Amino acid sequence: MSQRETWTSRLGFILAAVGSAVGLGNIWRFPYMAGENGGAAFLVVYLIAAVVIGLPAMLVEFVVGRQTKKNIVDAFRNLGGPVAGIIGVLGVFTGFWILSYYSVVGGWVIQYIIGSLSGAYFGGSEAYFGQIAAGNGAILFHGLFMLLTVGIVALGVEKGIEVGTKVMVPSIAILMLGLAAWAFTLDGAAAGYDYFLSPDFSVIANNYQTIIPDAVGQALFSLSLGMGAMITYASYLDGDDNLLSDGFSIVVLNTFIGVLAGFVVFPLLFAQNVEPGKAGASAIFVSLAQAFAKLPAGRIIGFVFFLVLLIAALSSAISLLEVVVSYFVDNFDVSRPVLTVGVGVLVFLLGIPSALNTDTLTLFDNVASLILLPLGVVLTVIFVGWVYGRSAVSELRRGLSSTTNIGPVWLWHVRVIVFVAVVGTLVLSLMEFF
Ligand code: PHE
Repeated sequence: MSQRETWTSRLGFILAAVGSAVGLGNIWRFPYMAGENGGAAFLVVYLIAAVVIGLPAMLVEFVVGRQTKKNIVDAFRNLGGPVAGIIGVLGVFTGFWILSYYSVVGGWVIQYIIGSLSGAYFGGSEAYFGQIAAGNGAILFHGLFMLLTVGIVALGVEKGIEVGTKVMVPSIAILMLGLAAWAFTLDGAAAGYDYFLSPDFSVIANNYQTIIPDAVGQALFSLSLGMGAMITYASYLDGDDNLLSDGFSIVVLNTFIGVLAGFVVFPLLFAQNVEPGKAGASAIFVSLAQAFAKLPAGRIIGFVFFLVLLIAALSSAISLLEVVVSYFVDNFDVSRPVLTVGVGVLVFLLGIPSALNTDTLTLFDNVASLILLPLGVVLTVIFVGWVYGRSAVSELRRGLSSTTNIGPVWLWHVRVIVFVAVVGTLVLSLMEFF
């Protein structure tokens, strides 16, 4: 079997991981979750979850990946035997599962890029969404999105994912900054900032049963945690990077782009008197499209916005696909392009129900963020905290300066705080789900 690929540089790894993190989660999911959960109140819980749970849980995935240099199934098997391997199998399943509907939303985005240029949704944004979101068109564009994703992953870690994300991630940041600066100039933008930035803590107190699981689930989803994407990416590391500072940069950049997305979406909605939040999964597609339709430069702004969204979605979708593909590449003597196409076809088929019915899509999304990802994190944290424990600490120490003794603190934080927080979330999530 040919030699396993590695990133060509540390920056390559960081940008790939940021590309995985920054996606539909930041720009599509975050504003609608925030809209449903009281805006700023949600932002506060989300930020706490990203730091207290997200960063340490990301380090957990990094050490597993870098130490084993294996796909997630073999990574867990190597460290803990066949039973631990089940965590990896769950991750591969979750990758399949999320990508199937993620790609359907990616297909919507492509249709909105076209619709922005032609002005197709300007006459009635709700009707346009109804037309394109479910049915043959949705299946077709879901297929197109999968084709793009497969194309990048088939090229491999270095020539596909690394080269791709080196172009994509800076483009997302620059275009988003431009959009946020432009949104700032809108009359009435202030009400949007206010909604997004001044938390009403009574909203949290009264709705903690839904805000906490939604915000923690969003943090996990947004940081690509709980299904092995970060394990897989870290498995292509070569050398002794400082994982703590890499993880920190990734969390900060992801949060920055998420908040920036809020600085685009909320001012736009409020400036056009469009109510945020009531529309659920269709929120940015209906409400935002409605806002674009009312603006003089709506076509071009809409085009840029949905283009950023497409780039962000693609750079995440490739990480979902890579989790699955790396398992097959490591275990079968079949070429990567062939395996990638094969997996891509299966994902395409699994996505068809979501492309036929948006309620099915929302159900898939809830199963992922409320059950599969928190469950994946809980199992990984138990395994790394208690079974793999000490050697995880030594693995983390590689690349840290010898004077920092953060390892044991991190391990106990993972064993106790992350564990309790995520188990608690899982219980609340299951209650919300059922
Ligand atoms: N983090 C991605 C987003 O925010 C989604 C994702 C989840 C990607 C899990 C990989 C793994 O859109």
